[in-house]
Amino acid sequence: MARRDQLWFFSVIAAIITGLNHSFAMNEILKQLQSRNSAPRLTEPGPDEYTLEQMFIAAVRAPDHAWLQPWRFIVVAGEAREQLGKVFVDALLAANPNADEAARIKAQGAPLRAPLLVVAVCNVVEHPKVPREEQLLSTGCAAYSMLLAAECQGYAGIWRTGGYASDALVKLALGLTASEEIVGFLYFGTRDGRAKSLPTREVGTYVSYWRA
Ligand SMILES: Cc1cc2nc3c(=O)[nH]c(=O)nc-3n(C[C@H](O)[C@H](O)[C@H](O)COP(=O)(O)O)c2cc1C
Repeated sequence: MARRDQLWFFSVIAAIITGLNHSFAMNEILKQLQSRNSAPRLTEPGPDEYTLEQMFIAAVRAPDHAWLQPWRFIVVAGEAREQLGKVFVDALLAANPNADEAARIKAQGAPLRAPLLVVAVCNVVEHPKVPREEQLLSTGCAAYSMLLAAECQGYAGIWRTGGYASDALVKLALGLTASEEIVGFLYFGTRDGRAKSLPTREVGTYVSYWRA
């Protein structure tokens, strides 16, 4: 084969391989999106530094009206989870001084349900075009991206809120300012046990095409 024909031949092969790789990767991404599944039970190992970094890179690409970047993320890992549990107990007792021992144990142990937590926080600012709801939604998108990015990298997670997410003592202990809100406690780790089976959802039920 002449050198020019060889070059042409190999560039066609390279283009085909690149195209195949691309569509394979796209299918994988789509599959991940369509099968995301929260993990209520999580165990070690939690996401390592690199994995977590990739999750944050995904999070900060959340849609964000006017690029306000309303989100920030607080990592609670290792012993800090026990300290957060203590904060939960204090919050519980402040709200209900008669809370029984079972409730106290539950509060103390709540952050230990995963190797690592990320508190997704939204700093809500006054803006002429971007209402509070949009800023919270943007932070929600960031939180969701983190869940997806964790799954893509072989980990699992679950988004929890509960009363502690809006508790003044918890917010103070986590260092939130008056304008900040907790959008979620994101629990991350390795799925413990089998994934629950996905519910069957008939997409057509939720979709309609409008026309006047
Ligand atoms: C904003 C928000 C708050 C949530 N808070 C809780 C919670 O406090 N406790 C809980 O068990 N699940 C909570 N969930 C639901 C779980 O994250 C999860 O979506 C649910 O268990 C269904 O599982 P799936 O995501 O695999 O469909 C919350 C979800 C969202 C979006």
